[in-house]
Amino acid sequence: MASESAPCRLLRSFTLCLSLLFVFLAGSVRAEITVYQANNQAAFTTSLAPGATYSGVAAYNPTTLSPPPLPMPSVLTTIPINLQNSGTPNLGIKQKGSFIGFSIEMSVTNQVLGKNSTLIQVPFLNLMANIQQRAGSVMIRVGGNTQESAKLVADGVIPNGRVLTKNLTGVTGTTQTPPLEFNRDLLYMMRNISGLVNVHWFLGIPWFVTTPFNTGIITAADEILGDYLLGLQAGNEPDMYNLHGHRGSTYSPSDYGGEMSDLLTQVAASGADPSGRAMSLLVAPNIADFAWTPELVWNSGLVDKFANNLAYLAVEKYPRSNCAAMFGGPGATVIDPQSVLPLYLTHDAHTQLLAPYLNSTMYAQSVGKPFLMFETNTKASCGGFLGVSDSFTAALWGLDYALQMAHSNFSGAMFHLGGQNVFYNPFTSPPTNESTFHQWSVGPLYYSALVMAEAIGPSNNTQVFNHGVTDLSSFTPIYGIYENGTPVRVAVFNYLDDPSGANTVHAVISIAGATMPSSVKVKYLAAASVVQKGGYTWAGQTFGGFFESDGRPTGQEDIQTVQCDTTAQTCTVDVPAPGFALVFLTDDAFTESKGAASVTFPMTAQTKTRNTATVDPSVLSTSNGYRMADHELAGTSKAPSAAPRGVRASLITVGVIGVTTVLAILGRAM
Ligand SMILES: *[C@@H]1O[C@H](CO)[C@@H](O)[C@H](O)[C@H]1NC(C)=O
Ligand SMILES: *[C@@H]1O[C@H](CO)[C@@H](O)[C@H](O)[C@H]1NC(C)=O
Ligand SMILES: *[C@@H]1O[C@H](CO)[C@@H](O)[C@H](O)[C@H]1NC(C)=O
Ligand SMILES: *[C@@H]1O[C@H](CO)[C@@H](O)[C@H](O)[C@H]1NC(C)=O
Ligand SMILES: *[C@@H]1O[C@H](CO)[C@@H](O)[C@H](O)[C@H]1NC(C)=O
Ligand SMILES: *[C@@H]1O[C@H](CO)[C@@H](O)[C@H](O)[C@H]1NC(C)=O
Ligand SMILES: *[C@@H]1O[C@H](CO)[C@@H](O)[C@H](O)[C@H]1NC(C)=O
Repeated sequence: MASESAPCRLLRSFTLCLSLLFVFLAGSVRAEITVYQANNQAAFTTSLAPGATYSGVAAYNPTTLSPPPLPMPSVLTTIPINLQNSGTPNLGIKQKGSFIGFSIEMSVTNQVLGKNSTLIQVPFLNLMANIQQRAGSVMIRVGGNTQESAKLVADGVIPNGRVLTKNLTGVTGTTQTPPLEFNRDLLYMMRNISGLVNVHWFLGIPWFVTTPFNTGIITAADEILGDYLLGLQAGNEPDMYNLHGHRGSTYSPSDYGGEMSDLLTQVAASGADPSGRAMSLLVAPNIADFAWTPELVWNSGLVDKFANNLAYLAVEKYPRSNCAAMFGGPGATVIDPQSVLPLYLTHDAHTQLLAPYLNSTMYAQSVGKPFLMFETNTKASCGGFLGVSDSFTAALWGLDYALQMAHSNFSGAMFHLGGQNVFYNPFTSPPTNESTFHQWSVGPLYYSALVMAEAIGPSNNTQVFNHGVTDLSSFTPIYGIYENGTPVRVAVFNYLDDPSGANTVHAVISIAGATMPSSVKVKYLAAASVVQKGGYTWAGQTFGGFFESDGRPTGQEDIQTVQCDTTAQTCTVDVPAPGFALVFLTDDAFTESKGAASVTFPMTAQTKTRNTATVDPSVLSTSNGYRMADHELAGTSKAPSAAPRGVRASLITVGVIGVTTVLAILGRAM
């Protein structure tokens, strides 16, 4: 307990310690709240009266759909999963636990990451710490459409300590993306985040104007982020440039390659990359599968020509378009979310979406480059689907998608966050004027990312294989997860929605060439229905509903032990409809996925003396979050009886770095 803070060592009481900290904070730190430019933030409307139509912000729309009908005739529910202890053919490439990362639209970084380098969002840090604990690190891409017209401006140009501003004079285009100005402090904010939660970053080079390129971000990113910079996107969706009026109708992959040569020439001439490192971190072609196929790009010779410059190959893909629902427009067909719901509750959706890329992931292996899904989501480009993108459906969909991408030899994928006007965010901050009494909303895709981190684990040596089983339906996909060719975990999905129990899956696991253990541990991703919004649980813990999370999982962790049949040499794991189970075949597989010690960031600093809210005591009793109960640095959960009852605490959505560090130490010490 060397890190225990002096006041807490003396007081030995969480409640007193907390109070003392408030005094300390109030006395020594200027109270701060996030103040965003009004038009960066959306308005918020609360609950929906019966029969009323919701007219508030998309990210918090409470409308739900009806679960799809059950398949007729019924499908296979007692599923034999016959694994081999070694020699499983065609296993995918080795994967990292950080496989699923996040793509944050550049224009909303000030809603998600923080206000600036000294005011970082505590819930965001906690959400990243949960993933880091399981995976070792987190990948985040800052970019999207708004990177293309982003301009690095001098310090002091953007007022009020902000890192970016939108120039709303020039708003055009389908997604009404405003031109963006940002300063170096955005990059310092990112670097400061990396110092706390081991996030590694992708950024993008603005590509609309190439004569000359605006290379400011190249120099600054390399200088400020250093080793935390993973890659720089060479343009975003160049195969849509013609559609959006940024290039002529003949614009081709070889023109794009020519622009890449121009970039290298210009950077060399201007000295924009003094170390030479940034120009070895390019990410291309980032196509949206709109006007060009990946093969058109590979066959243009791009990868050979820029072999020393390309660190990653990448594509971007959304399952279907829903722009009409968000923006209307001539000839636009609005897609009814209820009609697309079943399309998100089947494994076939993923095999179909990914089939066109299998040739490319083999090609990427042949040229020794990792292949990424740079931007993806449940949405269609624009908005997402109400009731689909923001329900348990999306949690199962996202996790199956992630595992299928790993099986398909992608090396990672990033779930996109688009701000408060969309349904699909993995997590969303509250509108600024609500931030003193509302917390964050954690969406279904965050659960997908968290479970994926745990399914893969931190070894860098994990292979994922989607198992075919005779007569298996597309509602119950099965994955084997391997280390050094040996199965260590099994992932079982049930996309059906049947509270009667008649469609519960019984997964009967056996391993040829190995003796089955007497029992296995199982964790469930659970909800009452596929249409449930919020309150999903992973191993019994949840991030709650809208506005309920400080980024730490709450509730008691629930790990099931399933007895195996040592005579039959099988372990049978039940998976409810709907649900997902992660089965740990060995103690090592369980321990490995437990992850390293996590520092979480309690939201206990004070920003305002009024508008205080009560912290759910269960949040505090598990204040070190996931699984810290059995770690030596365990926090309050080590002595549950000491958990405070009804402690009142002021909430912040913004942490002062110095203070969160103090609080993190406090959290570990108790
Ligand atoms: C927050 O701002 C929006 C838009 O100005 C307004 O509609 C809403 O009532 C405000 N909320 C509060 C709690 O003041
Ligand atoms: C993934 O790559 C491995 C190794 O090259 C290969 O055997 C396997 O068939 C590939 N998987 C898919 C789905 O393409
Ligand atoms: C961040 O914003 C706060 C509050 O506006 C301000 O006091 C501080 O100076 C800003 N930090 C930087 C590095 O600009
Ligand atoms: C905002 O955009 C308009 C139109 O593109 C431009 O004329 C103006 O100079 C920009 N303002 C700033 C402050 O960058
Ligand atoms: C955060 O960034 C600022 C630059 O604004 C720097 O002075 C400070 O040392 C950084 N803090 C941490 C914890 O890295
Ligand atoms: C696979 O990719 C290679 C390289 O681009 C290409 O030459 C080949 O035609 C592609 N095969 C298919 C079936 O698309
Ligand atoms: C996994 O790879 C990362 C670099 O990508 C490295 O930092 C980490 O130490 C590796 N983990 C193990 C267990 O080798």
